[in-house]
Order: sequence, then C-alpha cells, then structure tokens
Amino acid sequence: MPDTRPNSRLPGFYRAPLDERQAELARQAGLSKDDLALLASGGISASGANRIVENVVGVYALPLGLGLNFLINGRDRLIPMAVEEPSVIAAASNAARMARAGGGFIAESDESIMIAQIELREVANPARATAALEGARQEIMDKANTALPQLLQFGGGCRGMEIRALSDGRLVVHLHIDCRDAMGANMVNTVAEALADRLAELAGGRVGLRILSNLADRRVVRASTRVPFAALAGEKAGDKAAEQGAALALAIEAASRFAEDDIYRATTHNKGIMNGVDPVVIATGNDWRGIEAGAHAYAARDGRYRPLATWRVEGGDLCGRLRIPLAVATVGGTLPVHPGARLALRILGAKTSRELAEIIASVGLAQNLAALRALSGEGIQRGHMALHRRAVEQR
Ligand code: MEV
Repeated sequence: MPDTRPNSRLPGFYRAPLDERQAELARQAGLSKDDLALLASGGISASGANRIVENVVGVYALPLGLGLNFLINGRDRLIPMAVEEPSVIAAASNAARMARAGGGFIAESDESIMIAQIELREVANPARATAALEGARQEIMDKANTALPQLLQFGGGCRGMEIRALSDGRLVVHLHIDCRDAMGANMVNTVAEALADRLAELAGGRVGLRILSNLADRRVVRASTRVPFAALAGEKAGDKAAEQGAALALAIEAASRFAEDDIYRATTHNKGIMNGVDPVVIATGNDWRGIEAGAHAYAARDGRYRPLATWRVEGGDLCGRLRIPLAVATVGGTLPVHPGARLALRILGAKTSRELAEIIASVGLAQNLAALRALSGEGIQRGHMALHRRAVEQR
C-alpha cells in the first residue's frame, strides 16, 4: 500500500502564497475543496454556533496556521494551530525542525483517567466514615460503572477510589474514571451525582459538591526531545555549528534553571509552553480553560509553582522534558457540532485522545525550546517584532 501519511517537512511553505499553501495542505491531508472552504470561513457557521451556546449573534474566528516539521513518536504530523499571536507558529516549526535532527519528539501518556470529586460535609467521625467507605469500595465502584453503561462499552469505567480527609469534618471521595477518548466532564459529573447520596449515607455526612476536578493529574503526558548541538545552531552556522550549538545549549539549560528557581520566570516559561499547547487545543475543539487550570495547578502540585518543562545538556545534545496533564478528546464535546474542529483532528491524524495529548505536549515542548533559544541568543524582540511589523504593514 502506498504511504499516504503527510510529510511535515515543507521548506518554503511560509513564503508560498495562501492559495498554494491551501493546495499543499489539501494534497498532504486529502482535503476536498469544501474542506478548504470550511477552514477559510472559520470552521463553523452562525447557525452551527447557534446549536452550541446561547444568545448567538455570530462567530468569532482566529487565524489557523500549520505547525511544520513535527516528527512525533516516529510519525510526521501537520499541526493545526488557532492563535492570534504572531511568531508562535513560525517559532514552533523552527524548533520542531531542530528537534527533528535528533529524532523528533517522544511522548507517552497515562490512561485517560479523570477524577470525580464528591464532597461530604459534617462527617461526625471521619476515621469511621473512611473505614465504612473503604468497606464498600466494590459496591461503590460497581454503582459508578452502572451509571456509565456507554463508557463501559468503549472499555472505560471506574478504576479506583481514594478518600481524602480535609478540615472541619469534611471528606472528599475521588472516583477515578477512565474516559477513553472523551474529555469526560459529563460522564464524571454524572457519576459524582449518581453516587453522592449513597456515599453520604455510608459516611454519616451531608452531600456537598459533586463535580470533576480539572487537576487531571492521572492523565499526564510526558514528552521529551534530544536536540544535537549542531542542529540547535541552525543551518547558517556552517563549520562553527557544533561550537555555537553547545554555547546555546548551555544558555538554554541556564534559562531552565532560572525558571526552576524563580516563580516569576516559571510563570512566563510556562506561558511560552501554553503558546504551543492552547492553539492545538482550541483548533481541535477542546476545553482550553480546563487545560490551563489543570496545567498551572499541576505546576504547583508540590506547593511551589515550577516550570512544566526543563532542559539539560547531556553529552552532545540538549535534552528537554515536559510533563503536563491534558484532558483532551477526540470524541464528544463540541466535536459532533463543530466541523472545523473535526477537520483539524483529521489534519492531525489523531485517532485517540492519548495520541492527541501526546502531539499537544510535543508542540508545547517545541514552543518552549523556541522561546528559550531566542531569549538565550538574539533576544525575543528581533524575530517577534519583525513578524508583528509584517502584520501591521499588511493592514
Ligand atoms: C511570549 O508570548 C512567550 C515568551 O515570553 C515565553 C518565555 O519567555 O519563555 C517568549
């Protein structure tokens, strides 16, 4: 069978006129004229939008560009990125080209486990309540599965239970729900509501809140990359590439350590990562507020806000590692009603939520590399401002 997978290494793409870029995308991803028209018009009509939210009066579009050069787990990917900030897509593509020289990105992910939180208030004896809940563990998990017949059909379901004691006689029961390819908010909330009365009865307390947690710390993705020094210096460096690359690698490691030591810098470092993460999350119709909330809480999970990605020099390479929770979906949510989001998933070729999450984490790591490299070398303003000027001049 011929290999129909896209080639994401497309030199000169950025210089080609818009219609040629669209034609190339159509060729690479097997898109029709209608698909291209849909992308050009913002991916959704006003009447389509009217089926999704309330009081609709129109649609609001963002620029959609393609992140290039991405080699992720040995496979080329074209990355649809919806973003308003100039230079983000160029920077990600540039960093992905450098990473490609060392084999690209390697990413792996947890199962799609979301947490349902059931808060129990006024528990008179938390220790006895905990024992009672533990004693009913199987009953509780069976009841959770009964509330999710469809998820069970797709191989998901309740995988575990955890009981946490807070202050003032408050217990919180966490149910761990494997949501497979869905984000899972609806299913998790359904379980939380279905189980709450029985849990309160077992604990001898009152039902409080019943809702998912956006700190999806059981749905974490780990992405890494190994960039050879010479690739880091860029094509123009010639004979001096390895030497220049080594100096840049050390400077990027120092920039990483700055973020590891300082919350002010860590925040901006992580903002740069989210510059890569959010555009793919948005293009694929996922809940970027949930992703943002989860990412920053995860960054502070040990009580101190830290960088989500770190960089170290190892031998002749610069190695980056990112960990981030990513509750994203390839089914459900807005996807059935948002044709543009479905098309973005088709362009990406992501079939499962874990595959999508692994791609998104790799883009985040690439974006971080691009920012740290620019900050460690020429500074952010030269490239960034040139692209800003271009946007302004073309008005
Ligand atoms: C700008 O949108 C993002 C950066 O500030 C990220 C960083 O400083 O690492 C360049």
